[in-house]
Amino acid sequence: MSVHVQNTRMTTTRVRQMKQKGEKITMLTSYDFTLARLADEAGVDILLVGDSASNIVCGNQYTLPITLDEMIFLAKGVVRAAQHSLVVVDMPFGSYQVNDDEAVRNAIRILKESGADAVKLEGGQEIAGAIRRMIQAGVPVCGHLGLTPQSVNQFGGYGIRAKEDAEAEKLIADAKLLDQAGCFCIVLEKIPAALAQRVTSEISCPTIGIGAGNGTDGQVLVLHDMLGLNEGFKPKFLRQFAHLAEEIHKAVGDYVTAVKDCSFPSAEESY
Ligand code: KIV
Repeated sequence: MSVHVQNTRMTTTRVRQMKQKGEKITMLTSYDFTLARLADEAGVDILLVGDSASNIVCGNQYTLPITLDEMIFLAKGVVRAAQHSLVVVDMPFGSYQVNDDEAVRNAIRILKESGADAVKLEGGQEIAGAIRRMIQAGVPVCGHLGLTPQSVNQFGGYGIRAKEDAEAEKLIADAKLLDQAGCFCIVLEKIPAALAQRVTSEISCPTIGIGAGNGTDGQVLVLHDMLGLNEGFKPKFLRQFAHLAEEIHKAVGDYVTAVKDCSFPSAEESY
């Protein structure tokens, strides 16, 4: 196992410097203390308390139902675990779209109550004003363009985005706007690799890709997906670095058998 643990805590400034130095940035989702501690110890640069918790933790079909209070609750555990990694928290659907004042208030709530380092929001020009105000207020912001799952009802699914010229041009313009607004990085989800590479070369802040090819400044995956815990989910962009669902099925099955046949607990496991 190779471990790349940094000696000091990751900061948004260091994330920016990594792009300048050509050092790839690693981001993984995290929703609880135990797995966050393992990911932090293994050297991941950024832990994202993603609103994919709505699917992974709560079992919802979409990311939309998860609330601000629920995101803050999850983020607290991740923050307690993070010794090295930067912790970024997704602003859930409805917490930043109504108006800029509410958006800034909710972003501040996330940092104040969870102790996280930064927030992430989905969208471009429509939310650039809110992002500017958050950054002025001292809240570091990660952008998110391309497939933005909170807009699933508008998109009508989770297909690849920005294949056509008009949407690709809007995405490039949005990325430049978020960069100028002061985002310290931007997630690019499920867009053509050539487009992601172009955006990466035309903006100063780092890009972090998921299903966006190898030309971005970093990569992000959903931890449960890359650990092979989410058995049915195998899109083209996903590499499973482990197959933990199989191991868990076996371990739990072995436990059930051992209890039923009275071989657990043994005399050595009893007081
Ligand atoms: O919520 C999430 O998991 C995300 C990643 C897919 C980037 O936003």
